Amino acid sequence: MGNKHQSIPHTKLNTDYLIIGSGLAGLYAAHYASKFGKVLIVTKSTVKESNSYWAQGGIAAALDPEDSAVFHSEDTINAGRDLCNIEAVEVLVKEGKERILDLIELGMVFDSDEEGLKFGLEGGHSKRRVLHAGGNSTGQVMVEFLISSVEKNPNIEVLELASVTDLISDGNSCSGAWAFNQEKSEYILIYAKATVLATGGASALYERTTNPEGATGEGLDLAYRAGAELMDMEFIQFHPTAFYSDSGETFLITEAVRGEGAHLVNRDGKRFMNKYHGLGELAPRDVVSKSIYNELKETGGKYVYLMLSHLDRSFIIKRFSNIFGLCMDQGLDLTCDLIPVAPAAHYTIGGVRTGLMGETNLTGLYACGEVTCTGVHGANRLASNSLLECIVFAKRAIEGANKYFETREEIILEAGSPCIFGDTDVKDQERFNTIKKEIQCLNTQVLGIMRNGTDMKDYISKLETIIEESSNLSAWFAYKILSMGKLSQLIADSAYYREESRGAHLRIDFPEEKEELKVHIVNRMGSEPYQVKL
Ligand code: FUM
Repeated sequence: MGNKHQSIPHTKLNTDYLIIGSGLAGLYAAHYASKFGKVLIVTKSTVKESNSYWAQGGIAAALDPEDSAVFHSEDTINAGRDLCNIEAVEVLVKEGKERILDLIELGMVFDSDEEGLKFGLEGGHSKRRVLHAGGNSTGQVMVEFLISSVEKNPNIEVLELASVTDLISDGNSCSGAWAFNQEKSEYILIYAKATVLATGGASALYERTTNPEGATGEGLDLAYRAGAELMDMEFIQFHPTAFYSDSGETFLITEAVRGEGAHLVNRDGKRFMNKYHGLGELAPRDVVSKSIYNELKETGGKYVYLMLSHLDRSFIIKRFSNIFGLCMDQGLDLTCDLIPVAPAAHYTIGGVRTGLMGETNLTGLYACGEVTCTGVHGANRLASNSLLECIVFAKRAIEGANKYFETREEIILEAGSPCIFGDTDVKDQERFNTIKKEIQCLNTQVLGIMRNGTDMKDYISKLETIIEESSNLSAWFAYKILSMGKLSQLIADSAYYREESRGAHLRIDFPEEKEELKVHIVNRMGSEPYQVKL
């Protein structure tokens, strides 16, 4: 375990804005902050390896003349099952349009035809309003666009392969962070006027996920340890249609394929979504995932199928070229074969509780993107609202920080010592992998689509044992297990506390929504979970 009581040689850096994470939210925050001061982006991998990079679905914005921010807001709130922060939703849908237009002005190219921008349809949207770039590579194109602007920007520095291991905090404020470069065994102390967390979500805590394996929620753990509030952690969104293979191969098959008319069929080849919801395959995501779960329970098996054989072959190959290629790698032709799919963990709806300016309860700490809980998603995120949330609230977080600079003295805290890791014993790698896998499997079983109180209660104490038994691994591995174990406990605590079924949180033992639980559940270190109303 990291020892916090030694002092250790380290590199010292100073910046105005420390941005932790290099997905869309982090890059946009950096791009905007660079107009006002020096920016340092720190990322545990490379700038290209983020969850946003893999986003296929697109970015929703009510830019079509037939559409309006009001419709977009209504769809968002409907999907959110009475738990959205209405003010935050209004900011999202109004400013979302402005941010997209800013990006277009900067040179970002969204897919269009001779009539202008092309709008796709996805589950829960009452209008076609999902913009794409590069077909189904929207995240990649947007991230690459921002990376090229960041790389040219003399005010922005990027520190890659550096994991932030501690925020500098006294439980009330934040002055920067400690980072560790494992390859070089180098400790880096970064003092910043404002620290912006943009580290993404925690879906890789599950066995089957559409996220890259690094998405284990380390930013959530950092914030929690520093004294920040985490909110709505029980709401993990499962994407209904992730490719299924017994070998474990999992990749997202975008909802946009259903937007273009793909059907979901069971093992008997029968469509089933119409029996669960009036919008059929285009019902909100929580409904489709739950329906697949029910269907599998009734008919047996581990997956259902996507069927596209009734759609135009050349259109599908052009529009979904990546997915077509990925399916081909699995020996399946997307245009004529049945494609096995099952739900997989996709998006962390809960996160660091933030206000409208990205502020947290720690002075000097801001957050944006999937690591946050702004309340825009309520209990179930509307498809393609997350990239939009990244850019809208990244700008706001920097504006929030700027306001703080104008109105308050900078707080400079004692850095203390970082977690100290020593040498990593490579022999521990195998045991670490086994324990990590165990946590992922248990999360899928106990904190998956359907949950029940008894199992969650047992699991919370089992996690205690897993963490304890891992404490003799070399410090780096023990630190990682502690982080994954603690976060899983926080999800379980909140899910146990919420004795109802709402949106992405479904309880076998409490199958109905409850009026008195139109509240948010907050976790803060040192206190029991508590409720807030927004
Ligand atoms: O289905 C999708 O393409 C996913 C979109 C999203 O998660 O927003």
